[in-house]
Amino acid sequence: STAHAFYGSAEQAGIMTPQQRYVLYMTFDLTSNDRADLQVLLARWSAAIALLMQGRTVGQVEPTRANSVGADTGEALSLGPASLTVTVGLGPNIFTDAYGLADKRPARLRDLKQLPSDSLQPDLTGGDLSLQACADDPQVAYHAIRDLARIAKDIGAASTRWAVLGFGRASAGKGQSTPRNLLGYRDGTRNIKAAEDFDHHVWVKDGPAWQRHGSYQVVRKIQMHIENWDTDRVSDQNAVFGRHKESGAPLTGQKEFDTPDFHKRDSEGQLLIPATAHIRLAAHENNGGLKILRRSYNYTDGINRYGLLDAGLLFICYQNDPAHFEALQTKLGASDALNEYIAHIGSAIFFVPPAPRPGHYIAEQLFT
Ligand code: HEM
Repeated sequence: STAHAFYGSAEQAGIMTPQQRYVLYMTFDLTSNDRADLQVLLARWSAAIALLMQGRTVGQVEPTRANSVGADTGEALSLGPASLTVTVGLGPNIFTDAYGLADKRPARLRDLKQLPSDSLQPDLTGGDLSLQACADDPQVAYHAIRDLARIAKDIGAASTRWAVLGFGRASAGKGQSTPRNLLGYRDGTRNIKAAEDFDHHVWVKDGPAWQRHGSYQVVRKIQMHIENWDTDRVSDQNAVFGRHKESGAPLTGQKEFDTPDFHKRDSEGQLLIPATAHIRLAAHENNGGLKILRRSYNYTDGINRYGLLDAGLLFICYQNDPAHFEALQTKLGASDALNEYIAHIGSAIFFVPPAPRPGHYIAEQLFT
């Protein structure tokens, strides 16, 4: 199976990397007031991630020394690298006086402002660190996070906060076919794919060297009211997105990649892509050229206590300014026809530093 490199690119893997089929996303709270513990954690995580991405263990499964616990839990032995990437994010609370890091805070890293669509649950919100493990085998992603969480606990540096297991790719990158989200629609048709769009909209280009080629990660756990959606007429569903369900074509076109015409009207003068359609509100043409990279996954938590399907979209996006996400979501939250069928229940924001050079670790420059 494919292996991606942890070292060697300016950017961390897992952003521009062709999107894998599964994700385990987890955030952590710092449990130590000593910044040396954070430093050790980032160093040990970096070394472990480099091994995991090669399909290797983080240590001995059967320890040579009798009567000691295994350094690696073993469940990914023989599964190969499975395209694993693990992307590390730093939350706003790391950059405070408590750790002597207040003056190192990336310029645009702060808590997200409250948005009109928020129905956030505290236990699905926030975190001081994030790990996004994506792989083509869910057990490989699970193993990576499990053993990285063990390392954090071992050091006494951080404990788990919230997590989502995503089982289906719900965005497309360059050269990938467009998958579908759980509402049945192709998702990722007009995602960022071109290298110049990454340069323009995704990578941070200013500030100190340790921030350049980084990005801001915004994550939203978005629950879908699946049963309501499934009783809706397909013509109405098409109007919600402004696209056809089967082909993915805009309501003003024939084929998936036809450019939407936001001015076109029918014989009665009605806009073919309605004023409240998701793509009209989100399109760069209607937002001063603003674009974000989406790298989302479908998730399910089984069924809720009323026997309804508990599922949705783990929306993950990357941009060089989180205000771009806020601007889009402020608009969507106020007018998107999709709001009737979704609820934003989880949220977090992180700065994803660039990749370390070989022999170094993520965000090392914070401590020097
Ligand atoms: C486009 C689904 C949430 C931003 C689309 C498309 C679908 C879709 C089916 C059309 C295909 C495409 O071009 O990718 C959903 C669902 C969501 C959701 C089911 C929630 C459960 C969001 C959020 C944002 C967002 C929270 C950002 C704040 C966009 C953007 C586009 C898009 C920028 C491209 C529009 C264009 O340029 O035509 N979404 N989306 N979406 N969505 Fe969403």
